[in-house]
Parts: sequence; structure tokens; C-alpha cells
Amino acid sequence: MAYQVLIDTQLNDEILSMIGDDCELHLWQGEATDPAILQQIEAYFTYGHPKTDGTVMDRMPKLRLISNFGVGVDHIDLAAAKARGIPVGNTPGLVDGATADMAFTLLMAAARNLIIGEHYARSPEFTHYDPSILQGYDVHGATLGIVGMGNIGTQLARRAQGFDMQVLYHNRNRRPETEAKLGVIYASKEELLRQADFVAITVPMTPETRHIIGRAELRLMKPTAVLINVARGGVLDHDALLEALQNNWIYAAALDVTEPEPLPRDHPLLKQQNLVIAPHLGSATRQTRRGMAQRSVDNLKLGLRGEPLINRVV
Ligand code: 8YV
Repeated sequence: MAYQVLIDTQLNDEILSMIGDDCELHLWQGEATDPAILQQIEAYFTYGHPKTDGTVMDRMPKLRLISNFGVGVDHIDLAAAKARGIPVGNTPGLVDGATADMAFTLLMAAARNLIIGEHYARSPEFTHYDPSILQGYDVHGATLGIVGMGNIGTQLARRAQGFDMQVLYHNRNRRPETEAKLGVIYASKEELLRQADFVAITVPMTPETRHIIGRAELRLMKPTAVLINVARGGVLDHDALLEALQNNWIYAAALDVTEPEPLPRDHPLLKQQNLVIAPHLGSATRQTRRGMAQRSVDNLKLGLRGEPLINRVV
């Protein structure tokens, strides 16, 4: 008999073929999900960040595994999973390069007014070349501050080297090896915010990192600085960011993630010209998504067979 697996979103053909036909898939539909199906579910394959707390887990008495597509598991109540003996798998190490590429893409787009420029270049208003418009800020030779020197932060620092940037970082623990290898300099959060021309947030979302950048932090940044967030929306206080952008406390912000995600369509942040925003594209490359798919499907299959997962969070 096929394994009974719950999915939160329709999966694409590539993932479906990796899963194969030894799993029968059922789509989570919130409260409307048929309780008789939930009674049979053995594994939950989470693809699109559904909130998965103890109550959701308790609706599936046979649940013995959660396999998450992606590294961030802040949407899953890990303590609840642990208390119920349900292993949670994820895909660390596979998203770092692509997410760092995306951070750099956003950084450059904001610094060089790429999005505004693109709209202008396509519009009827662009009738003659004017060298005095849309002057941004140099990326090369600037100071990059990285808040969170984990795998993604480290990849970002490597990319900054190619742009002759000085890199400051802030992290819970100092990283002497990374300092020696990449020449990055440890700084307190405050020092980093005061000195950096670009501040990139690359911390995991945890209760400790919630609003790690808020009003006080934004007030410390240079009026010419750009803030980039490729972590999770919750690490940045959006009300404070709006105030900062409206009052030009900083030059611009570039977000790949928001809270909520997506923002309500009438959210005032979306009206800010000094905001570059992407729909959570950090790991959205063919190669990276294929690697994540394979790892999360491998974790799923291993867990269903009762074997150790390749990457297990709890
Ligand atoms: C994924 C991510 O796209 O890995 C993560 O934590 O945020 C993204 O790279 C996402 O998890 C897929 O739903």
C-alpha cells in the first residue's frame, strides 16, 4: 500500500516524479481537509511555508515525519514536533549560493536604481538622455555589513571580495576562521550599522532575531545606506522600515521576504519608490530548487522507511 503523504501546495512535475508512485499525495486545505484522510497521513511534505503547529500535528495521529522543502523551519513548531517524537527534515547547505546571489542582486538593484530606471527606460517620459538623473551609490569599494555570518552570510562575504568591499559582520559568535580566510571584521551591531554603506540581514528567524533591525537600528544607519533582507520578514520591523523610507533615514531598502508574505496589496511599503521588492526568490534557480527538491524528497522517503534523515532539525 502506498505511503499516505500530505502536501500543502500543488507540487510541480519535477518533484512529483521524484516522489514517484509509492506515495499517495493529499492536498492540505486547512479546516476543510477531510478528517478521514488526515487520520491516515504518515508524512507531511511542506513546500510553501504553511504554519504547522501542535494542533495541526494532532489532527494526524499517524504522522511520523515532516519533510520541509527549504532550510528555514520557523513556520514549524519544532518544540511541538519534538514533544510528539516527529522528526523534521530540511535542506541546509543547498540554498546558500543562490540566496547570496539574490542578496547581491538586490543590493546592486537598489544601489544603482535599476528598477526605477527600468520603468523609466520603458516609459514615454524617456525622450532624451540626461546624465544628471538616477545617480545611485558605488557598490565597489563600499562597506558591507552582514548581520548573521552563517552559510549565506559567508557566501555573501565571498561575493563582496570581488567588488573590493570592506566587510563588517555581526554574529552571536565570532567566526575567527572566516575572519582569517575572508578578511571580514567583527563589529557590534551598532558599530556595523553606523559604518556600513550596505547592511544585509542573513540571520535565521528565531524568537531572538525577531525585529533584530527595528527603529533604533534604522536610526543608526547612514542616510546613504541600503538595507537588504533575504532572511525572513520577521527579522525586520516593517513599521519602522516604512518610517525610515518615508523620512529618508536611509537611501533604500531591498526585500526578498516580508511579514506577512505577501504584504497586503495596499500596504504602504509597496508605494515607496526607495524600496526594491522581490517575491521570495532567494533560492529560485533551476539548479538550487532541483537540489532542494531532491534532498526534501530523500528525507521524506528515508523517514517513511524509518531510516535516519540526511538533514534532521529535531
Ligand atoms: C525556499 C527559503 O524557497 O530555504 C528557505 O528557507 O526560504 C527558500 O529558499 C522556501 O523555503 C521554499 O518554500
